[in-house]
Amino acid sequence: MNDTQIEITSRSVDETIALGRKIAQLCQGGELIALIGQLGAGKTHLIKGIAQGLDVEQINDVTSPTFTLINEYPGRLYLVHIDAYRLENAQQLEQLGFDEYIDPDNVTVVEWADRVTQIIDEYDPITIRMHHDGPTQRKIQIQNPTPDITQALQNQKPKRLDS
Ligand SMILES: Nc1ncnc2c1ncn2[C@@H]1O[C@H](COP(=O)(O)OP(=O)(O)OP(=O)(O)O)[C@@H](O)[C@H]1O
Ligand SMILES: [Mg+2]
Repeated sequence: MNDTQIEITSRSVDETIALGRKIAQLCQGGELIALIGQLGAGKTHLIKGIAQGLDVEQINDVTSPTFTLINEYPGRLYLVHIDAYRLENAQQLEQLGFDEYIDPDNVTVVEWADRVTQIIDEYDPITIRMHHDGPTQRKIQIQNPTPDITQALQNQKPKRLDS
């Protein structure tokens, strides 16, 4: 894990989707994204963007609730989506074969990741925290980003470097 932390303000749903898209476009496979945020924080919209950035065609499937705990969607890489909200406990994630999903062909996103930190922290996740910051505004913190993601997001907002 690196010490980098990027903080971004999203001012609209579209900005949140665009951020997810950008992050996913910079993924090379093998990434684990731990997504944390309360109800309505914007997790589903961010994942929609991630699906776009991985050229996943069945975007609506990705953002619709399903009965399975782990879903895989083909794209440039596989998007593996895990909803930890519906797990009974953290150990259930291991029993589902979590370690096998961390694979160079996949980008794995764990939603409600704060419920399974003890399992996923071993895999050096990129942690994304989303917070309400007004009706259409969200604060998004990215911890332990890859160098590519750091560079792209800092270039996008050069003012950050001065602040
Ligand atoms: N900047 C923003 N980014 C994302 N969503 C926003 C933003 N501003 C307002 N919203 C609204 O906040 C809600 C976010 O919904 P979303 O389903 O993405 O949240 P969620 O974190 O997945 O919630 P849940 O845990 O209930 O599934 C939507 O109603 C959306 O219109
Ligand atoms: Mg959601």
